[in-house]
Amino acid sequence: MALGTSGHHCLFLALLLLSTAVYGQPLSTSFYATTCPSLESIVRTAVTNAIASESRMGASLLRLFFHDCFVQGCDASILLDDTGSFTGEKTAFPNVNSVRGYEVIDQIKTNVEAACPGIVSCADIVALAARDGTFLLGGPTWNVSLGRRDSTTASWSQANSDLPNPASSLATLLAAFGNKGLNATDMTALSGAHTVGFTQCQVYRDRIYNDTNINTPFARLRQSNCPATKGVNDTVLAPLDVQTQVTFDNAYYGDLTKYKGLLHSDQELYNGGSQDALVKKYSSNSAVFFADFVAAMIKMGNISPLTGTDGQIRANCRVVNSS
Ligand code: HEM
Ligand SMILES: *[C@@H]1O[C@H](CO)[C@@H](O)[C@H](O)[C@H]1NC(C)=O
Ligand SMILES: *[C@@H]1O[C@H](CO)[C@@H](O)[C@H](O)[C@H]1NC(C)=O
Ligand SMILES: *[C@@H]1O[C@H](CO)[C@@H](O)[C@H](O)[C@H]1NC(C)=O
Ligand SMILES: *[C@@H]1O[C@H](CO)[C@@H](O)[C@H](O)[C@H]1NC(C)=O
Repeated sequence: MALGTSGHHCLFLALLLLSTAVYGQPLSTSFYATTCPSLESIVRTAVTNAIASESRMGASLLRLFFHDCFVQGCDASILLDDTGSFTGEKTAFPNVNSVRGYEVIDQIKTNVEAACPGIVSCADIVALAARDGTFLLGGPTWNVSLGRRDSTTASWSQANSDLPNPASSLATLLAAFGNKGLNATDMTALSGAHTVGFTQCQVYRDRIYNDTNINTPFARLRQSNCPATKGVNDTVLAPLDVQTQVTFDNAYYGDLTKYKGLLHSDQELYNGGSQDALVKKYSSNSAVFFADFVAAMIKMGNISPLTGTDGQIRANCRVVNSS
């Protein structure tokens, strides 16, 4: 009897070790419940303050999480600064002079370290800040699974190869998301993040002068301060959603049905292809969009996290720990 019990324990332990080795440890919404109970309120307060000074920051934090998760998984690799001997992801083409919010993450990390030193990863802070940015701009909320750890590496080349380009076709977008385990529904729902935030003239210039599937008055409106000549007004900003630029709602999909997508990649979702019906559904039913967006954000947040004893808890989100 005693032998049988210990035999069961050994089998249980062996299976646990095996499943951990093969599948990694699952993330959990209660991961810091006892070790850092004030975490979520600290993040919420800091994101609220950041959005109060600049509403766009909610959008920027949402994008930061996407650009983290698509490169090596959700491991805060995007936060590492370049040094003389290290090239990180910040200077990769999709990120340089474009990704924002690093200072907000630094501020949150400082506040979290003061309350619970050495406990909370930068990767989890980015995940929470993205959720809060979405919610505080009027979008849905969800419980964020936690327990990610921080990378000791970053990949400039993977940031260039794996983050989707705004000139992409629908097939290319589907493949880029498919590579990360995200399907067509996830891709179309996650693209709804473009209901908030801004983009630069140099990014959408080609679309507003050269694309034919664009609403003409809308193209003229955007051409009015984004001239065709490269080098002129390159960094002038326009909202990704022409209707409600700082509100997280389903208006982006309504834009697409009127051929008012500002990026070529946006309009690819509604251009006679496989996603047209879903775009129409989201444009007329924000509850379905919100539900699918939340499910896809949770899926995106599960891309290859470092867990257990892998990686580290960085003391400073910008640098790998020295010891
Ligand atoms: C479908 C493929 C996607 C492409 C090709 C794409 C591309 C872009 C580009 C080019 C910009 C503007 C950059 C600039 O002008 O500096 C942008 C902005 C933005 N993207 Fe995406 N994106 C995609 C998907 C996503 C996803 C999945 C999310 C989040 C879930 C997201 C969130 C955002 C947000 C919120 C902004 C505005 C950021 C700000 O104002 O600071 N995007 N995106
Ligand atoms: C988050 O989890 C709590 C506790 O399980 C639950 O009461 C709450 O409804 C959840 N919130 C969302 C938005 O799912
Ligand atoms: C995408 O995946 C979700 C589950 O993660 C599933 O509910 C949905 O049906 C899938 N959509 C497609 C088009 O495969
Ligand atoms: C339009 O496309 C042509 C041909 O590819 C290119 O030479 C030109 O630079 C594009 N114009 C703009 C404004 O992007
Ligand atoms: C450049 O942008 C500024 C500010 O939006 C605008 O006033 C000006 O007309 C633009 N110049 C051109 C040539 O479009």
